[in-house]
Amino acid sequence: MPSQISVLFVCLGNICRSPTAEGVFRKKVADAGLTEQIFIDSAGTSAYHVGEPADQRSSQVAKEFGYDLSAIRSRKLVAEDGEKFDLIIAMDKANLNDMESLISSAYHDKLKLFLADYGSDNSTDEVPDPYYGGSQGFVNVVRLIEDASDALLAELEPQISAVKY
Ligand code: 4NP
Repeated sequence: MPSQISVLFVCLGNICRSPTAEGVFRKKVADAGLTEQIFIDSAGTSAYHVGEPADQRSSQVAKEFGYDLSAIRSRKLVAEDGEKFDLIIAMDKANLNDMESLISSAYHDKLKLFLADYGSDNSTDEVPDPYYGGSQGFVNVVRLIEDASDALLAELEPQISAVKY
């Protein structure tokens, strides 16, 4: 039994959606007292923004909802992430497709589509890319991610009890 469960959130640029997912899930995990038990990170399928902080609009909206993205810097997804993480969670289907190309098929059972696998709104299975849109898109991202994060945490909590005791 592993001593820790590790979760990696993935989008295209790792400056909007996956940093938001990292920040939201980190806060929910901390509020549940499980910071030591769940390792959380995020990455992008592209290298467009490597080393950059989260997009200003994502940071601002996240902050308004009570989430801090300030420590996050963009990094590119690497093949080694397939071995390192227990769950690798895509924001949209294009991300999932790219993840399947980069990560060995031995680890494909770890690859998830965030809203399809955890979201409660059956009408949408992708977190829409907010990068080229207006501020409402960033609010929508936070709401979708909060919902799926609750379900993800609820799924992991019993596994963590098994890890701890
Ligand atoms: P993200 O959003 O994948 O949610 O981080 C984007 C960020 C940057 C670009 C596209 C999407 N871009 O084309 O630079």
